[in-house]
Order: sequence, then structure tokens, then C-alpha cells
Amino acid sequence: MIKAQDIVYVAHRAPDLDLHAQFLRDFGMVEAARTADRLYMRGAGTYPFIHVTELGAPGFAGLGMLAGSAADLDLASRLPGASAVEEIEGPGGGQRVRLTAPDGYRIDLIHGMALADPLPVRAPLPVNFAMQKQRVKAFQRPDHEPARVVRLGHCVLKFNDGDAGARWFQETLGMLVTDRLHVPGDQAATLGNFLRCDRGERPADHHTIFALHTPGDINVHHASFEVQDPDAVHIGHEWLKEKGYKPAWGVGRHLLGSQIFDYWRSPWGYMFEHYADGDLLTADMPAGDYPATEENLAQWGPALSPRFFESVVVD
Ligand SMILES: [Fe+2]
Repeated sequence: MIKAQDIVYVAHRAPDLDLHAQFLRDFGMVEAARTADRLYMRGAGTYPFIHVTELGAPGFAGLGMLAGSAADLDLASRLPGASAVEEIEGPGGGQRVRLTAPDGYRIDLIHGMALADPLPVRAPLPVNFAMQKQRVKAFQRPDHEPARVVRLGHCVLKFNDGDAGARWFQETLGMLVTDRLHVPGDQAATLGNFLRCDRGERPADHHTIFALHTPGDINVHHASFEVQDPDAVHIGHEWLKEKGYKPAWGVGRHLLGSQIFDYWRSPWGYMFEHYADGDLLTADMPAGDYPATEENLAQWGPALSPRFFESVVVD
């Protein structure tokens, strides 16, 4: 069975590559390559790119997930509706098979991409806890800068049938349900499923995909990018606020996944999240099931606006 091992990149369409590049730089990415109609941005980690902007009307274009082996790509190319094994045109090369998830989402399964040298990121800040001191004769002086994204962590997609969406990732990419969210008071009604990669004993993020059940409302909900530590989330928040971007929710701490989070809107209203300090799980953890109450979305943080659930907010 194919077992996706990671998420590598997310792609959005936008009508102005320069304007999107400026937003993505302020969000903390670095330009990796550009053609007339493609903009490739990377993080400080080793994937040669983690975000693609395709020139066109604003929208969600798809995402790229890492196959465990070349044999998995071959298997994927024989699935119904799959492309042949194709060359990836971006930096790092490699091969992909284009798959189509329910509701038409484009999922590229990829393999053989050449890794890049990591970019410098400041070391995590050593924290003096009340009961546990670890910093003496040294000061906290992080730079005022964008948040310096390291990698793409997860992507949230809205489906006409959230269970069918989750099942596709389980059956096609071998993913595991970490936690299910149900409608409060109605345990049979799915609101969404958090899915992680099956990496066996190797820890995986609490979720790499979250499949939401939103009949009639099909779009990406957000893409989430990991930064070094909670200070980076806050420093990134200040940077984006000073540049005039639109905050969506944060800073807070999620319950499911535990991440310190902060959500922003791109110039075309799409949501991008910074996070730090997320949970890691091995494949043997049993799935949880929670009512989708506000307390189960965040342990602390600002009040949640109903507009947070909208995929695109431009005004
Ligand atoms: Fe998220």
C-alpha cells in the first residue's frame, strides 16, 4: 500500500506574482525560482520549494505529498484517473503522479526531488521557566524579522462529504485518522477528520491533512507553515501587522495538535497559518473523537470570528 510520508508543497493561483511574492516574503518564505507563470518559494528546511504560485485567477491549485519510494509512484500511476509518472518542472526536479481527490482536488504524489541546503534560522530561544532555569549571563534578543518559515506542516481542505474526503487519503495515501471532530450533541455527524502520515515508528505531525465536512462549500481552508518557536510566531505576527496584512485568528494554542497558531489572509483572501510546538505521534496511537466546540479548537487565544471558517475573505 502507498504510504505518503510528508507534505511538501501547496499551490495557489494568483493574478500577480510580484504581489504574492511580497506577501510570501513577509510571511517568512524565500524566493527559490521564477518563470513567466510560476513562482516557487522555499522555507529554511531542505525541500527546494514549499509553495508554488501559478499565474491565473485567484484560487487553490493543489498540493504535493512525498511518496515513500519510486515503487509507490509507479503504483500510484496505475490508480484510476492518475497521470503517468511525469517530471516535476520546479527546482529540485524529481517525478510526480497527479491524483484527483474527491471534489476535484489535485494531489501530486512526488519522489526523487533533490533536497536543498537548509537556510540559516536562529537557534530556538532557551527559556527560563519559573521552576527550571537554563539561561544565565545570556540575553533574549531575537531579531525583528519575518517569521522565517521552515516547512509546510499541513493543509485543510473542505469537502462535500468530509468522511469520503478522509477515506480517500486513508485508502490512497495510507494516512491515519488521528482525531475526528463531530457536531456537538450528534456524535454520528462528522465535522472533520485530522489525518497524519503513517511513518511507523518515526514520529509524524498530529495532522498533515484535515478533511472538513462542508457540503456545498469546496475550497482550501488554510495552509499551515512551521516556524522555529513560539517567539517566532509572535515576531511574525508583529511583522505582518506592521506591513498591513489582515489577521484572521491568533495568537493562540490549539487543543488538537497543540500548536501555537497564528492565521493571516493573503492579498487574495486565502488563509496562511504560522505554527510552532505541534504534537508528534507514531503510527500506533489510537484515534480520538471530540465534539467541535470552541474549547476543542483552542486552549487559549482570542475569540474566534465566524469569518474564520470562510475560505476567502477579501474585504
Ligand atoms: Fe492549521
